[in-house]
Amino acid sequence: GARGRAETYRPRLHFSPAKNWINDPNGLIHHEGRWHLFFQYNPEGDVWGNMSWGHAVSSDLLHWEERPVAIAHDEQEMIFSGSVVYDERNTSGLGSADRPPLVAIYTSTLKDDSGLQRQSLAYSTDAGETWTKYAGNPVLDIGARDFRDPSVFWHADSGRWVMALALPTEYKIRFYASDDLKSWRQLSDFGPLGATGGIWECPNLFPLGDRWVLLVSLNPGGPAGGSATQYFTGTFDGTTFSPDPEQGTRWVDHGADCYAGITYNDAPDGRRVFLPWMNNWLYADRVPTTPWRGAMGFPRELALHNGRLTQAPVHELESLRTRTLLSLTDATAPEGTRRLLADTGQFYELEAVLAPESPATSAFGLDIRTGGGSYTRVGYDTAAGELYIDRRSSGDVGFAAEFPGVHRAPLALPDGGLDLRILVDASSVEVYAAGGTVCLTDQIFPDPSACALRAYADGGAVGIETLRVRALRSALRG
Ligand code: FRU
Repeated sequence: GARGRAETYRPRLHFSPAKNWINDPNGLIHHEGRWHLFFQYNPEGDVWGNMSWGHAVSSDLLHWEERPVAIAHDEQEMIFSGSVVYDERNTSGLGSADRPPLVAIYTSTLKDDSGLQRQSLAYSTDAGETWTKYAGNPVLDIGARDFRDPSVFWHADSGRWVMALALPTEYKIRFYASDDLKSWRQLSDFGPLGATGGIWECPNLFPLGDRWVLLVSLNPGGPAGGSATQYFTGTFDGTTFSPDPEQGTRWVDHGADCYAGITYNDAPDGRRVFLPWMNNWLYADRVPTTPWRGAMGFPRELALHNGRLTQAPVHELESLRTRTLLSLTDATAPEGTRRLLADTGQFYELEAVLAPESPATSAFGLDIRTGGGSYTRVGYDTAAGELYIDRRSSGDVGFAAEFPGVHRAPLALPDGGLDLRILVDASSVEVYAAGGTVCLTDQIFPDPSACALRAYADGGAVGIETLRVRALRSALRG
């Protein structure tokens, strides 16, 4: 089929478009048993431009079926990021009582010299297949050039729609409310707070456990350079988001490739499922993939523990498990590198608990996608108290000066050893550590044949308390 052998780096576990450029996930909603994924899409090329909403659907968050472009750019406007809600009571009047609409709220970026960003609606009465722009667009216009990425949800306590919007260059999130999705009144502003090393984009506000969480992406200024997403916990009374005190800056992910992530509206069973764009504006237009450019991260289940965000791959992942390739308990690997598996394949899942064997062990970890002189190191630096991904020798790193690097996250070594869950794909590695409290996501572009797994230790040995490597079925269709 279209996905030929030449597609060296095609993800098997992650959504990527058949062809062309993508960035942010948009309009994430679970509706009538299907997970919808809309996304920033250039229907005409493999670099950013002509921004439209592409569309894919899945019944399990694993197998994605790409659909026709949902909302296309035209002569006047590009369709920037936003959200989709199910207007069950037809408050907007854009459907009918019998056929309540799905309503997309997106940023219209004008193509004329004004470059104004205004909020607009489109609606669907066929469960998201086809979309019509609302004739009364725009629905919110403050005459600003930087005013975008509406995140809308139904706020049950106040019985109205609430929208979070970014004022990127002011490092602010502005909240609005509406009864009908068409007329919006301003509620309050949040920020600046936390990280302000780059413009603020793509807010997402949602309840989690007994708190509210506000995601704010910023670019640049991330911990690994370039794009990243911070989060705040707090309360939301329907009008104002009040952050919990003394949070400092908290990153959803400390790697280089987790940006513009938002969560699903209307996910069943109280789930809160997060999906990021697995890329970084520093080099997104140069990643060496063709005929597509860009992929989504693996969907993550969010929870709060002791006021901190914890993340795990959605449980659906387990349905892709085939056989266990390696299972170790109470093993030791000496100083240096030690081969554990000659051939993991290009994509798999790994769970491990590692601990330094002596006080002299200054660093330890795992080298994944190893072969032909290249490897990607998931390591722990005991002196610095940092977990890291080192992708300097991960394969093709030369396409952008900003790509090679070591990306670090502060993490105190847990008493029982460092627990790691790692998802490896043809062109990415996602690390969930310490019960999912610390995450690192990096793209990598290794040779397809680089498939060995090694243990690594510096200064002394490393104890492998447990290690399990599982082969997975590809989730790619066709
Ligand atoms: C974030 C972003 C959004 C904007 C979109 C444009 O990556 O810059 O703020 O809506 O991309 O494609």
